[in-house]
Amino acid sequence: MLDLYAQWKPPTVIVSDGAYGLGSFPGDPPTIAGLVEWYRPHVRAWTQHALPETTLWFWNSELGWATVHPLLVEAGWEFRNCHVWDKGIAHIAGNANTRTLRKFPVTTEVCVQYVKKTFFEAQGMRMSMQEWLRHEWIRAGLPLWKTNDACGVKNAATRKYFTADHLWYFPPPDAFDALVRYANEHGRRDGRPYFSRDGRRPMTGGEWSTMRAKFVCDAGITNVWTEPAVRGIERLKARNQCIHMNQKPLKLLEMIIHASSDELDVVWEPFGGLCSGTIAAHKLNRRSFAAECVPEFYNIAVKRLENYDVF
Ligand SMILES: C[S@@+](CC[C@H](N)C(=O)[O-])C[C@H]1O[C@@H](n2cnc3c(N)ncnc32)[C@H](O)[C@@H]1O
Repeated sequence: MLDLYAQWKPPTVIVSDGAYGLGSFPGDPPTIAGLVEWYRPHVRAWTQHALPETTLWFWNSELGWATVHPLLVEAGWEFRNCHVWDKGIAHIAGNANTRTLRKFPVTTEVCVQYVKKTFFEAQGMRMSMQEWLRHEWIRAGLPLWKTNDACGVKNAATRKYFTADHLWYFPPPDAFDALVRYANEHGRRDGRPYFSRDGRRPMTGGEWSTMRAKFVCDAGITNVWTEPAVRGIERLKARNQCIHMNQKPLKLLEMIIHASSDELDVVWEPFGGLCSGTIAAHKLNRRSFAAECVPEFYNIAVKRLENYDVF
């Protein structure tokens, strides 16, 4: 599987639904003790192949995620949000003996959103986007309050785009273009070009906008996703048994792919199972690359993909 990453086109979205440390599919470690080593080579490959616009959606149990989180951060992934999939009481109804249980029954999983940290190099230093903006403006020898003149605003540019604290806002492409124009017209001559990545020409607002993960936030969606476990015709069965214990709802996969990519963007689903992420990607007119190592699941996923519009 690891060889495949280099053959796939770079992803805008990675949907990871791999090991949980529950022994729930062949190769899933029996406890969380083996999770970090299980994910390590995959995380390394994701970091290597991801773009600044890439979002990683990491599905797991709460404890599985907590275990792998430090590995993701160390590899350059920045935590954005933790989404709780609440499957509802029906998930355990009739199945939980509260007299013997020593904890409340679990009806959730998490899907955690990470973005790839983008770094800029300037004068031999490595810095974040926020730091680079300030650095380039100061390097141009211009006072910070002039950023407001550049953007044609009263104080929003210094307050939002050039603040050094955590309340930083990403300047939209037109504001970035205005800042670049101003710095290159009015900044010290000997340091030009300003806001350049290659040292030859400044970046454009269009290029700037590709330097962070895509995201659209539709109204009404929060970080708690109330959705029953997969059932009905979507739940694939053989001899009345669920084929895959971990099948994810298409509704949730469509929601995250829609939120973090555009049509024709590339979605990776390295741990395919029945390839629900890939079905969702096709429905939304995205391109997808998936892998599944168990032949039974793989064959069913291939058939499912041939008829993806039925689901
Ligand atoms: C949690 S399940 C994914 C379920 C999937 N999200 C769905 O909705 O059907 C993880 C899957 O990853 C597969 N898998 C585990 N390690 C893999 C690897 N190295 N390469 C490819 N598939 C792998 C397992 O066989 C299992 O089917």
